[in-house]
Amino acid sequence: MKKNVACVILAAGKGERMKSAIPKVLHEICGRPMLSYCLDLVKELKIVQTIAVINQKHAEVKQFLKPSRVKPVFQKNPLGTADAVKQALPLLNSFKGDILILYGDIPLLTKETINKLLNFHQKNNADATLLTSVIAKPHGYGRILRDNYCTIRGIIEEKDANEFQKSIKEVNTGIIVFKKEKLAQVLKLIKPNNRKKEYYLTDAIALLYKNSALIESVKVEDFSEAMGINSRVELSKANQVMRKRLNERMMKEGVTLLDPDSIFIDYGAKIGADTVIYPFTVIENDVKIGKRCSIGPFAHLRKGTRLKDDILVGNFVETVRSTIAEKSFAKHFCYIGDAKLGRAVNIGAGTVTANFDGKRKNISSIGGHAFIGSDSVLVAPVKVGRHAVTGAGSVVTKNVADGATVVGVPAKPFKTTKR
Ligand code: UD1
Ligand code: CA
Repeated sequence: MKKNVACVILAAGKGERMKSAIPKVLHEICGRPMLSYCLDLVKELKIVQTIAVINQKHAEVKQFLKPSRVKPVFQKNPLGTADAVKQALPLLNSFKGDILILYGDIPLLTKETINKLLNFHQKNNADATLLTSVIAKPHGYGRILRDNYCTIRGIIEEKDANEFQKSIKEVNTGIIVFKKEKLAQVLKLIKPNNRKKEYYLTDAIALLYKNSALIESVKVEDFSEAMGINSRVELSKANQVMRKRLNERMMKEGVTLLDPDSIFIDYGAKIGADTVIYPFTVIENDVKIGKRCSIGPFAHLRKGTRLKDDILVGNFVETVRSTIAEKSFAKHFCYIGDAKLGRAVNIGAGTVTANFDGKRKNISSIGGHAFIGSDSVLVAPVKVGRHAVTGAGSVVTKNVADGATVVGVPAKPFKTTKR
């Protein structure tokens, strides 16, 4: 099944309801732009040809698409979803088959749902198949209009709907698959006869119905998958849904999350089996944690953190761009930034790697089995040798030799006076 499908991702809208200088599709969900999820989806579906319609003013979206195989096309003025699709069609001139329309602001769809939609569409040889959903609070979505035989006869947008139409609970998720030639025929006929004076893609359905085309629908059971992100409130809901998915995936892979509701793990973070994450912990993307580690509560592991196995990172510990080798401990409030720690290092409470000198970030390096006393400040660039010790409260400004002990401000080698 599933032959000849091309995809058009609509991502040129102004995103006015976000009240943001950042293009809507680049707002992040679990640490990565919303649009990445759509790009993943077309990749997973193995769709060969995908066009993303983007806003001429959004050069950063074009830049973002560069590493992918998705071709961008500009929509000069965002005159509506039908106008957006129109911009993509010339790039699909030689393509024959079905066109799947995805919206850049619908990031949570799964491969299974879209496969179901495409399979149903092709099996029934439909001209258009809509992904719809029946929801208790349909506010803001286009409503599905059906005739006396229950056949879909059109879609009415909330803004243009009368009271009866507003009471309809079946909504247009926005995801539709069309036979290309049928879509091309009706696109030309769409007029901006609505409150927003936009060319609505949804109007294609009523036009197809008039032409006696076969219009089908597939229902998505879990509507959270098809949620559209138009505002910051919806963005936060999407973050919650994705976070739950990611946390569940972690647990399935053998990671203990003691309180998934208070643990924030970004997309792309990797955690080994039998690691335990305590509540109120934030783990950003590009973080790798080994096996049997214990993290948190209240830990913040930022980008570029690499923890090997059997590591203990406790309360109020922040790490960034740092590597920590096996069996090291940082159990109480401290900052480890741009640092490289060997095996079995003990980081005392209150330790700070002072990595920023006002101009650039500098590296701290701590050898295996070193013992960093409580409240030590390592003024980078600095090296603390293997088995070295820093006294409580020392400010280390110079390298410390292997096995040496330093104390004081600034830290100096510790000498014992013989009696
Ligand atoms: C749209 C649907 C609505 C559906 C809802 C689902 C239309 C007319 N309405 O409404 O039936 O229930 O999605 O979430 O399609 N875009 C462009 N160019 C434009 C306008 C929009 O590329 O000129 C893009 C946007 O970036 C966005 C998508 O199309 O990704 C949908 O546009 P949006 O304005 O968010 O439509 P909704 O009001 O949500
Ligand atoms: Ca939308």
